[in-house]
Amino acid sequence: DLPQPFSIALPLPAVLTPDGIQDGKTRYTLTQREADVEIVPGFATTIWGYDGTFPGPTIEARRGEPIVVRVSNELAVPTSTHLHGGVVAPESDGYPTDLLVPTRFKGRVDAAMLAMHKRAQVQGQQDGSSAHQHPTDAPAEPDPKIWTLHRVAKDYHYACDQAASTLWYHDHRMDFSAPQVWKGLVGSFLIRDAEEEALNLPTADQELLLVICDRSFDADGQFAYPALDPTLTELSGVQDDYMDGVLGDVILVNGVPWPVAKVSNTRHRLRLLNASNARQYDLTLSVNGESVPISQIGSDAGLLARPQRLDSVPMSPAERFDVVVDFGTFPVGTEVVLENTLATGDSGKVMKFIIDEAKDDRSELPDVLVKDFEQLRRQDAQKTRLFDFRMTAERMWVINGEAFDPSAAGTRVERDTVELWRLTSDFNHPVHLHLGHFQVLTRDGREPAPADAGWKDTVNVTPYGVTEVLVKFTKFEGRYMLHCHNLEHEDMAMMANVDVV
Ligand code: C2O
Ligand code: CU
Repeated sequence: DLPQPFSIALPLPAVLTPDGIQDGKTRYTLTQREADVEIVPGFATTIWGYDGTFPGPTIEARRGEPIVVRVSNELAVPTSTHLHGGVVAPESDGYPTDLLVPTRFKGRVDAAMLAMHKRAQVQGQQDGSSAHQHPTDAPAEPDPKIWTLHRVAKDYHYACDQAASTLWYHDHRMDFSAPQVWKGLVGSFLIRDAEEEALNLPTADQELLLVICDRSFDADGQFAYPALDPTLTELSGVQDDYMDGVLGDVILVNGVPWPVAKVSNTRHRLRLLNASNARQYDLTLSVNGESVPISQIGSDAGLLARPQRLDSVPMSPAERFDVVVDFGTFPVGTEVVLENTLATGDSGKVMKFIIDEAKDDRSELPDVLVKDFEQLRRQDAQKTRLFDFRMTAERMWVINGEAFDPSAAGTRVERDTVELWRLTSDFNHPVHLHLGHFQVLTRDGREPAPADAGWKDTVNVTPYGVTEVLVKFTKFEGRYMLHCHNLEHEDMAMMANVDVV
């Protein structure tokens, strides 16, 4: 049976310790492996985790201090580790076809892609359309122009030359990100810096990282996922009922169903991450039904110029919100509930805080967080582009009419210039960009919502509207990508290349 909501104590993911120096950089090692963990009391759930944990260990890096993360893969499937929000060189970015292939993998890395193209071609012949012209005579080996294969281990180099922020790492294997993230391949990555520390924001036990995601369990306590091919070898994707994405009925925070956290009556910094495959949240905090004010201090890619009051926190998959909540305004004994107003019943519950200790609060919430915040303006844009996220008549999720083809030329953008991107869609698509960060300029011709503030790497593009963002790529050049972060849509090829030159 599932536990009563708010009965299990909130754990915090372990912080990873470095294990050496490599090329003058601090080195960390992560091993992707299977493990049995107790998520639902009395059951052992088999997960795939970084170091066998779910979520994986948190990496805490400092701005300006590059690190190496050596990932080894002891699973039975290939993986690709992407640092989401990271300003990272292309060969360490975790591109979907840049794979770490374990010796135990018995399939072909490109089998799912070939199968998909074959299906599309058969369908194209049936409708007489010529939309998908891919060779029927597939080469015997994965095309080395598309696939980069690493064996045993891969070193990911992270420059960490970016603002203090809450990033996260997760699997990005071509065609199979959704089931592999669902199995547990996620972890957090914090960048800290001296400017942020000088603000005296809540820290230590007044800073909580909250990785929120939903899962479903079968009768044996195993994760339930409707994969077309449960071995994740030949066929990608999910059964047709799940075209909109896979939702779970159990809400986990840091890997625990509906946990409870005991806190002191002080300000707390909550680093919220929506690590769900497809679930959207609108999070509220309340005491006996009365709403508790939330001060947002940071967005996906770093601190805002100044804190702003939010009544609720709307989070689409992959977004992060850095918020401060003052538990000091309540008497000891008060219970504060975090809920998702977009769902009902237990799926609408997230976690509870119990204020159980009186303590001096030395933290602050300053009026100004970033003095010289770079606010982009419409007139800064040197180019305007349109990206349309939509389902085709053949029920494929595409961008500007095209399904992802890793060998296709990407949109060419110039490094260090600002572009205006107009994003449109037929659904809620959380649009995510690798390398580049952006600021939301307008939504449907109006001012963006308060929660759109700051530098972001993911924005929820709402149905039948236009979301305008000002985009900037910095520091690196090469092949990156743009995609929908509804992970089922991502696996159904709702991705496109971006070539930064
Ligand atoms: Cu978090 Cu390309 O993904
Ligand atoms: Cu989508």
